[in-house]
Amino acid sequence: MRFVPAGTERIFVSGRGNLSDIAELRRQAMAEVDRAADLASLEGVRQRWLGPKGVLTLELRTIGSRPPEERKAFGEAANRLKGEVAERLEARLSALRAAALDLRLAAEREDLTLPPRRVRLGRLHPLTQTIREVSRIFATMGFETVEGPEVEWDHYNFELLNIPQGHPARDKFNTLWISNPLGGDPDRPVLLRTHTSPMQARVMEARKPPIRVIVPGRVYRFEATDAYHESVFFQFEGLAVDDRITMADLKGVLYSFARQMFGGERKIRFRPDYFPFTEPSAEIAIDCFVCGGTGGECRTCGGSGWLEMGGCGMVHPNVLRGVGYDPSKTQGFAFGCGVERIAMLRSGTPDIRLFQQNDLRYLEGF
Ligand code: PHE
Repeated sequence: MRFVPAGTERIFVSGRGNLSDIAELRRQAMAEVDRAADLASLEGVRQRWLGPKGVLTLELRTIGSRPPEERKAFGEAANRLKGEVAERLEARLSALRAAALDLRLAAEREDLTLPPRRVRLGRLHPLTQTIREVSRIFATMGFETVEGPEVEWDHYNFELLNIPQGHPARDKFNTLWISNPLGGDPDRPVLLRTHTSPMQARVMEARKPPIRVIVPGRVYRFEATDAYHESVFFQFEGLAVDDRITMADLKGVLYSFARQMFGGERKIRFRPDYFPFTEPSAEIAIDCFVCGGTGGECRTCGGSGWLEMGGCGMVHPNVLRGVGYDPSKTQGFAFGCGVERIAMLRSGTPDIRLFQQNDLRYLEGF
């Protein structure tokens, strides 16, 4: 028996082959099957080993010419090898087919995914930011933040605040009345609250002194709008009630607030004013932090050097009596300020209407 190099038509020419030659044939055949890199060369390998003129086909034909004592063992071994090669060919065939399919799928792959949408992080509205900062500062002085109804009874918005029917102070508020479609009680008129002050009466009715609350919220007035006026805007009310509250407490609290909000150099101006529900009453202004109070050409304060923040005063005895308190034992102070005014100052917003217009170009810059 002799071997010829692999790749020639016949690599094995049978002579007086024996069983150890079968082992060598197995090694060669398996190696060739494993080496076949595509379907065509695998078919070539099959023909060369199992085809009509294949190595193993011819080998099996030599059985008859072998010594009788060898035939059985040789025949069995050669047949088993034929089966093993066929099996190996089959396995290689499916492996090559699977690999070919993978290649095709990879080549034909389409990317059907859309690019992801940009995630836009939201942020708090500038007015919300301002309200939270106000609440935080007053919380450091022991004030609790509470909220009240925007649709209010005349009773709380005016009556309990010492503004009875026909009182000229009613003219100060351009009120939006609500007509109840179900008829309602004509003696209990309903309106969109014109200020957060009705919460003074509501809180005093519901609680006992000592009271310290901040009430932020929307208020409504029948207003012609311009850069400084909106018919819907925000205020925050402050109320402190106890048995030895004086105007000095009011001033101290407002000084502390102004300095925490606008910086340690701020000055506050109190000027006499009039509100039916406080006595005495004052208007609150802070010195302009843009021009430092010098005024002149300053556009933030309009040259006056002062920025108006709101009103304040000692809770009027009639208001205390109205909620069942004894003014000789209990006193309180109250103040009310505009949120937009503060937000405009903090953010350099030139027009109050920008807060409501929902223009993202503005809101995203805040
Ligand atoms: N409610 C008043 C206003 O809207 C402001 C104010 C509040 C004045 C509390 C005094 C005390 O004009």
